[in-house]
Amino acid sequence: MCGIVGYLGDRPALPLLLEGLKRLEYRGYDSAGVCVRRPDGLSTCREVGKVAALEARVGKDLASFAGTEGIAHTRWATHGVPAERNAHPHRDDKSRISLVHNGIIENYQTIKTALESKGCKFESETDTEVLAMLVGELYEGDLEKAVQAALREITGAYAIAVMSVDEPGVMVVARKGSPLMVGIGLNEFVIASDPSAIVAHTQQAFALEDFTVCRLTRDGYRTSNLHNIPVTPKLMELEMKLEEIELGEFPHFMLKEIFEQPKALRNTLSGRVDMERGEIFLGGLQQIGRKLTHAKRIVFTGQGTAWHAALVAEYMMEELARIPCEVQYGSEFRYRNPIVEDHTVLVAISQSGETADTLAALEEAKQRGALTLGIVNVVGSSIARATDAGVYLRVGPEIGVASTKAFIGQVAVSAMLALYAGRRRHLSIEATGSLLTELDAIPDKIRQVTDQSEHIKSIVAKYVDLNNWLFLGRGYNYPVALEGALKIKEISYIHAEGMPAAEMKHGPIALIHDGMPCVFVAPMGSQHDKVIGNMQEVRARGGRVIVIASEGDTEIESHADEIIRVPACPEVFSPMVTTVALQLMAYHAAVLRGHDVDKPRNLAKSVTVE
Ligand code: F6R
Repeated sequence: MCGIVGYLGDRPALPLLLEGLKRLEYRGYDSAGVCVRRPDGLSTCREVGKVAALEARVGKDLASFAGTEGIAHTRWATHGVPAERNAHPHRDDKSRISLVHNGIIENYQTIKTALESKGCKFESETDTEVLAMLVGELYEGDLEKAVQAALREITGAYAIAVMSVDEPGVMVVARKGSPLMVGIGLNEFVIASDPSAIVAHTQQAFALEDFTVCRLTRDGYRTSNLHNIPVTPKLMELEMKLEEIELGEFPHFMLKEIFEQPKALRNTLSGRVDMERGEIFLGGLQQIGRKLTHAKRIVFTGQGTAWHAALVAEYMMEELARIPCEVQYGSEFRYRNPIVEDHTVLVAISQSGETADTLAALEEAKQRGALTLGIVNVVGSSIARATDAGVYLRVGPEIGVASTKAFIGQVAVSAMLALYAGRRRHLSIEATGSLLTELDAIPDKIRQVTDQSEHIKSIVAKYVDLNNWLFLGRGYNYPVALEGALKIKEISYIHAEGMPAAEMKHGPIALIHDGMPCVFVAPMGSQHDKVIGNMQEVRARGGRVIVIASEGDTEIESHADEIIRVPACPEVFSPMVTTVALQLMAYHAAVLRGHDVDKPRNLAKSVTVE
């Protein structure tokens, strides 16, 4: 979604801002803009399309952008089409204020009407321009006060950075609902909606809390709430390393992250499992361990890939801990007047920790008295902060828009959570220990799948021109089928459906035609024979069967057109292995079809609007 970068210091701002915008490109956007202070005013440039197009345009007039303070933005359209007039930065109608914004101002129409009646002329359809106008309207020589006053009138979500022509050396930033960080360098500040635009410059930073305004000057910063009461931010060292957010030898972040999964998963497990003693140590759960163990019901929530991880988590928790579970989309849970009884635990799963629907479901559950837990990747993100307790994925920054290593981390943490609760309820030390030994072996098994990348590519190449695919699985591999279909849809734009294999004959079987690729996720397990039955149904109708099968499964050979072998493992952990084959399938399909894998059309990395 939208991205913000700002700079105030002694270095030329423009290159820094453009570099920051490029680091945020992965979030998804359709236009970009920049505003730099020159000695006699503010220079703004906005462009539809890529940051490179903005850079080229600004390059024609570099002298106007030669200052050392500025703000920049990548926009993902919500209010108004992608167009120059709708791109940020926006200004007030006296052109004294320049403002960039992430989030949505919910009451913008009411404010717009009031401002129009005072004679303000709007040039865009955006909610952001309304905020810029409002700040301009309330400005009486003190930008910080004007921003505080404007935000007191706003409902909705925002991360903003603002400059005024009349206050050189001052930048004001604020946040509610959308993330914003302030990086503190030597006599300089780099602000951004995402630490990836900060780490190249400084490791010292703080994340703004909701309803906090921060005034930055070259002499320091001051943080306050909307009523100008000072608040003290919590300083932190950013853990992100530059190499984690750079491509290195890989052509795409998605491929890099698929190949990183063995290492990422090692990190997830590291220091958290003791195979000999059958123990799981999850520091984040220390205070609520008993409540989790005595939960009567667990509701897992998330969106997209995280929702698929939640489906796997449901199966795991019911099998290993015998606690009744259900899975809800955050977007459905929040509006359905959900029943939250005593001893209900809500577990929010999210890579970014900023997904608006998941966050809203969490708030709803909290209000109704549920204990809330987070399974989140981004440390200090909104969901991580809003939950009562949680476990971080520790898979490192995920830059590829299509989620890969975060899914594996989400499933691994869910497995640990289920074993943690299971051990405290009924699992023996031996049973827990032997499952932990199997879990510990998963990273190496994933590597055996990534080693087959070229083989997977050669299979995909045969079917890549076909526009309709089915993905089928049973039990633990039913969510994997959903995830496989989502991956191929989002980056290769092939239409795909994922479903429980048994569901096929209740309707979707009508789709099967000569040569249609049907991908079966069918490792050895309790329903293996049943899946083979479903393969026969497909072949009888001319469909082509591509199977993800366990090594050593010879029976499968006579039922499949193509086979991708994965190492055998307990069924409960199999999604972490089988999914990797489908990630590679989607990746190769997208590349073979000539698509930009890391910037799929219309998609944003973190969906911070409803
Ligand atoms: C798919 C994908 C999305 C996200 C979903 C939730 O590859 O990335 O479906 O999984 O938008 O995002 P998070 O996990 O950040 O809450």
